[in-house]
Amino acid sequence: MTNFLITGGAGFIGSHFVIKVADLGHNAVVLDKLTYAANPDNIAAVKHKLIEGDIADFSLVSKILHQEKIDFIVNFAAESHVDNSIKAPENFIQTNIIGTYNLLNCALTHFQNSSNEKKSQFRFLHVSTDEVYGSLAATDPKFNEENPYKPNSPYSASKAASDHLVRAWHETYGLPTITTNCSNNFGAHQHREKFIPTIISSAIAGKNIPLYGNGKNIRDWIFVKDHVDGIYAALTQGRLGETYCFGGKCEKENIELAHEICEILDEIKPRQDGKSYKKQITFITDRLGHDKRYAISNNKVSREFGFKPSKKFSERLRETVMWYLDDKRAIPKK
Ligand SMILES: NC(=O)c1ccc[n+]([C@@H]2O[C@H](COP(=O)([O-])OP(=O)(O)OC[C@H]3O[C@@H](n4cnc5c(N)ncnc54)[C@H](O)[C@@H]3O)[C@@H](O)[C@H]2O)c1
Repeated sequence: MTNFLITGGAGFIGSHFVIKVADLGHNAVVLDKLTYAANPDNIAAVKHKLIEGDIADFSLVSKILHQEKIDFIVNFAAESHVDNSIKAPENFIQTNIIGTYNLLNCALTHFQNSSNEKKSQFRFLHVSTDEVYGSLAATDPKFNEENPYKPNSPYSASKAASDHLVRAWHETYGLPTITTNCSNNFGAHQHREKFIPTIISSAIAGKNIPLYGNGKNIRDWIFVKDHVDGIYAALTQGRLGETYCFGGKCEKENIELAHEICEILDEIKPRQDGKSYKKQITFITDRLGHDKRYAISNNKVSREFGFKPSKKFSERLRETVMWYLDDKRAIPKK
C-alpha cells in the first residue's frame, strides 16, 4: 500500500484521482483548501482522509508529509478558471506559484530526510495544462513536450511558472519530479462555471447558452478518467524529470461541441415546445486574449505507456450529460 498526498483532491480532476487510488487499495490523504471549486461529496464514496488546508502552509504540509509517511505527492491544487484569472489574478499567483513553491520545499525536506529505500520510491507529480504552450493557428502541428512555453492568460502564466519551479527543483536539488500537461478535461464533478456544465445547466434552465466570440475557438477534449489513468501511468512508469503531454485526440470548435450537447439534450430531455436547445445559443463578447486553438500530441505517452482514449468521444459526452442531468448540485431548479 502506498501513501498518497493528493492536493486539490476535492476538485474536478483530483477527485477522480482520489477515487482511482482508493479503489486500488492505496492510502489517499487529501489536502484541499475547499475553495468554491471543491466539493467533498465528489469523494464521499471512497475511503480517504480529507485535511482542509492550503498548499502554501509550510508547517501543515510538512506535518502531513511526516505523519502520513507520504510516498507520492500528486499536485492538483490550483486556481483553474481562466476568466477568474483575468478578473482577479492574485489568487492564481498565490496558489499556483507560491503554493507550488511551498509544496516543493516541503517535499524536498521530506525526501532528504527519508531512508534510501523510501527515497528511491518517492515521487512528486505536478499536474499542469497545455495552455502553458500558448495558442495554435489552424494548420499548426499539435503541441508536444518540446514546445517552448508561451502562456497568454494570467492562469496559464501562473501554471507555466509552477512548471518551471518543478523542473528547477528536479535539476537543482534532485527532487524526483514528473510533470504532466493535459488538454481540456470533461466528465462528472466539474464546477458549473466551466464550459460543458455551463452549456448543460443553461440549456435546462431555459437560459441563453453563452459562447465566446464566434464560437470557432478549438479545444482538444479528453475524458477526465482517461486523464487520471494517464497520470497514474506517468507516476508509476514515468521517467524522473520528464514531462508528459496528454490529449484526447478530439479537436472541436466550441460551437460544434455546443451543438452536440444540444442534440443529446434534444433526444433525452426535449424542450416542451419541441424546438432544439440550439435556439438558446448566444454569442457573447470574446474573452480577452482568448487562445484560438489548443491541441496536444499523445505520441510520447502512447509510446511509453500505451496511453489512448478509452472510448469514443460521443459515448463519453453522452455519459457526461446524463451525469449532470442527474446531479442535483449542477442543475439549478427552475
Ligand atoms: N480542468 C481541466 O480541463 C484541466 C486541464 C489540464 C490541466 N488542469 C490542471 O489540473 C489541476 C486540477 O484542475 P481541476 O479542473 O480539477 O480544478 P478545480 O478548480 O476543479 O479544483 C481545484 C481544487 O484545488 C483546491 N485548491 C485551490 N487552491 C488551493 C490551495 N491553495 N491549497 C489547497 N487546495 C487548493 C480547490 O479547493 C479545488 O478542490 C489544476 O492544476 C489545473 O491547472 C486542468
